[in-house]
Amino acid sequence: MIKFIVLLALIVSFASQFGPGPSVEGAAVVHNAGKQTWGYVEVRPGAFMFWWLYYTTGTVDYTKKPLVLWLQGGPGASSTGYGNFEEIGPQDANLKNRTDTWVNYTNVLFVDNPVGTGFSYVNDTSLLAKNNSQIAMDLVELTTRFLQKVPEFENVPLYIFSESYGGKMAAQFALRLQKQIVKGKIKCNLKGVSLGDSWISPIDSVLTWAPYLYSTSLVDNAGFASVNASAYAVKTALDNSEFGKATTEWDKTETVIAKETNGQFYLELNSGLDVAFVLENVLLEDK
Ligand SMILES: *[C@@H]1O[C@H](CO)[C@@H](O)[C@H](O)[C@H]1NC(C)=O
Ligand SMILES: *[C@@H]1O[C@H](CO)[C@@H](O)[C@H](O)[C@H]1NC(C)=O
Ligand SMILES: *[C@@H]1O[C@H](CO)[C@@H](O)[C@H](O)[C@H]1NC(C)=O
Ligand SMILES: *[C@@H]1O[C@H](CO)[C@@H](O)[C@H](O)[C@H]1NC(C)=O
Ligand SMILES: *[C@@H]1O[C@H](CO)[C@@H](O)[C@H](O)[C@H]1NC(C)=O
Repeated sequence: MIKFIVLLALIVSFASQFGPGPSVEGAAVVHNAGKQTWGYVEVRPGAFMFWWLYYTTGTVDYTKKPLVLWLQGGPGASSTGYGNFEEIGPQDANLKNRTDTWVNYTNVLFVDNPVGTGFSYVNDTSLLAKNNSQIAMDLVELTTRFLQKVPEFENVPLYIFSESYGGKMAAQFALRLQKQIVKGKIKCNLKGVSLGDSWISPIDSVLTWAPYLYSTSLVDNAGFASVNASAYAVKTALDNSEFGKATTEWDKTETVIAKETNGQFYLELNSGLDVAFVLENVLLEDK
């Protein structure tokens, strides 16, 4: 399963105007320390989706900062597990405070999606989602009921962030949510959707790896050549409709990358500096 996050997050903004953006307040002052809440939404009879909200510690009035809804990939990877404890949450898996948590900049809502993932569950396996339309509908229901429960976030700018396969789910979810907003079915201030190393088109993603690693100096010429060759082996298999082989070659490419970068791939791409850059320059910029 893809675990790494690419810092080249594609930020797609729905509205060109951000309106009166959130203002950045007293920088290093930490408020709302550790404030959080969680709950379940029964998105369909017998299907229960778990959410976990962290209020930002970055300002006194948390409604002055955006809300980031975080979707992990997989499908089947837990946002409250990976995203929270291994990537951007306030504490790591050893319950040590993380110095570069997104919660320091913005409110973060982790959602275990689709149902059956993490703490989300179904009463009967027949209720598991079978396609992305169902997942999108479940997520819109989750958002609707979440905002009813915590209505002070209705007007707060909402950004959907996703990783890997989450990119597919986020795109469909955001589209459906936007339609419901336009129809007046839900009061929600959706501002944007961000697809991080999204698995929208796997081969296009794989073919960016070699140039990306080269341009960030993580591989040299020889390293570039081997990652590129391995990535193209995936393409060749795909072009021949050899899907099993394509999957094996893709897996091999990750091994090649780990070898060529001395295993730095995952680490580098998860750098807190990069997420801080994205948050400060893209999300929280006062426009
Ligand atoms: C939180 O962000 C501020 C900048 O807004 C920074 O000065 C501070 O060091 C950060 N704190 C942590 C714990 O990341
Ligand atoms: C961890 O962060 C919380 C919330 O900001 C804070 O209250 C607590 O003192 C921190 N713990 C340590 C050991 O720094
Ligand atoms: C799901 O299971 C729980 C626990 O057995 C039960 O209380 C609840 O009524 C069930 N809900 C549905 C919709 O089947
Ligand atoms: C998605 O799955 C649901 C539930 O199984 C089904 O009703 C719906 O027709 C499917 N939609 C598509 C586009 O396949
Ligand atoms: C990457 O590998 C493919 C397949 O071997 C080759 O055609 C292409 O020229 C390579 N790209 C670069 C920039 O070397």
